[in-house]
Amino acid sequence: MIVAQGIDAWLTTKRGLAGRSLGFVPTMGNLHAGHAALLARARQECDTVLLSVFVNPTQFDDPDDLARYPRTLEPDLALARSAGVDHVLLPTAAELYPDGYTYKVQESAVSTVLCGASRPGHFDGVLSVVMKLLQIAQLGGDPAAQRLYMGEKDWQQLTLVRGMVDAFFLPWTVVGCPTVREADGLAMSSRNSRLTAERRALAPLLAKTLREAPDADAARAALETAGFRVDYLEDRVLGAAPPGAMRRFAAAFLDEVRLIDNVALG
Ligand code: PAF
Repeated sequence: MIVAQGIDAWLTTKRGLAGRSLGFVPTMGNLHAGHAALLARARQECDTVLLSVFVNPTQFDDPDDLARYPRTLEPDLALARSAGVDHVLLPTAAELYPDGYTYKVQESAVSTVLCGASRPGHFDGVLSVVMKLLQIAQLGGDPAAQRLYMGEKDWQQLTLVRGMVDAFFLPWTVVGCPTVREADGLAMSSRNSRLTAERRALAPLLAKTLREAPDADAARAALETAGFRVDYLEDRVLGAAPPGAMRRFAAAFLDEVRLIDNVALG
């Protein structure tokens, strides 16, 4: 596994990779089984697997959240090695934002609801950094051979990245991968480690309630009664999804830890 400390090191390395298919998994580190599943799928389907680790400051609407985000590079590299990753890209903020973030990618419909409504600027930051990473990662410009792997837990993020790839004719295939869950149903997330033991025991109720409640209002009431502070809970179709692709989306706090999840309806 080759670790590129900075963009230039990767740009030099990738000259030797012409003609190979590329599977790219962008992350903010603190890797868990959900990321391992993305890497495993990329490993199965592509000649070369690239992982990026970058805690992207522009997508944090709350400075405390950014400061608290776990930085765990050594265990992340160990997981990457065991997942068969070929290359790891570790860019710096100065390299990725030479313009000081005066240029950004903005979407004006899907990004305004759900997480976008309560986290202003969050999706501008996500789309901008993913756009930059896709430009830097790309090898040959053949969308069939450049595959971006992202998880369905962040369904809104996945929808927005798909939309951006289409809108800007980016030569990538976006592969959405199913949410990986703990045995008790809690969606894997780096935020889970911040839950107290008591809150961790309660957390699986989020997924269970989304699946089982008869409607969104009942789901919200059940979660609030159990002690969650619900940010949003909505049944809706997001983006250019096929008809009938109704999903139930929620974000809810346990203490200061914000959990998100979504399930298919019907
Ligand atoms: O899902 C994430 O970890 C981040 O939002 C991403 C896509 C790596 C962009 O920073």
